[in-house]
Amino acid sequence: MKIVHSPQAMAAWSLRLRREGVLVGFVPTMGALHEGHRALIRAARLRCDALVVSIFVNPTQFGPSEDLAQYPRPLANDRRLCREEGVDLCFEPSVAAMYPQGYQTMVTVPAIARRWEGDVRPHHFSGVATVVTKLFGMVRPDIALFGQKDYQQAAVVRRLVDDLNLGVGIIVRPTVREKDGLAMSSRNVYISPEQRIIAT
Ligand code: PAF
Repeated sequence: MKIVHSPQAMAAWSLRLRREGVLVGFVPTMGALHEGHRALIRAARLRCDALVVSIFVNPTQFGPSEDLAQYPRPLANDRRLCREEGVDLCFEPSVAAMYPQGYQTMVTVPAIARRWEGDVRPHHFSGVATVVTKLFGMVRPDIALFGQKDYQQAAVVRRLVDDLNLGVGIIVRPTVREKDGLAMSSRNVYISPEQRIIAT
């Protein structure tokens, strides 16, 4: 598995393959990969020739009092899971490469982002829309896969791809759950036993 940090090297790899007629699939993640990610990666593997997974904890989608610093970053495990699932390239850009000094542009999808999670995280979906747009520009995928667990995120992504004519096929896959019914998530490690009962 190839590991790439530079956005320019990422785009060059992908464009070369696409010119040869290779279908490039993409699963964007923030790492801390679990069985839900594994299912997405497997579904992607079946649908493309070359598969890219990105691992980037995106600061613009975290609020000031949220868990950006504590967000789990088990990179060695994540790379191992990607290798096990036959990922061709793991894209791991730095924050400085994604948001260099002077960076300004944000993508907003206001109506879809307004309610539900957007009510309590007012800048979250703008951060998601921005990073997904940027990642698509770097990875240049034919198709990209997202989990239905993040239903509102998937709706934001579908809308921005249509609105900005990005030409990426969006596939949304069913939620993968723990035995007790809780949707798998990298943040489940934060939940206390009492909260877990409520969450399920
Ligand atoms: O769902 C996620 O892990 C993130 O929101 C995404 C799509 C990778 C953007 O940072």
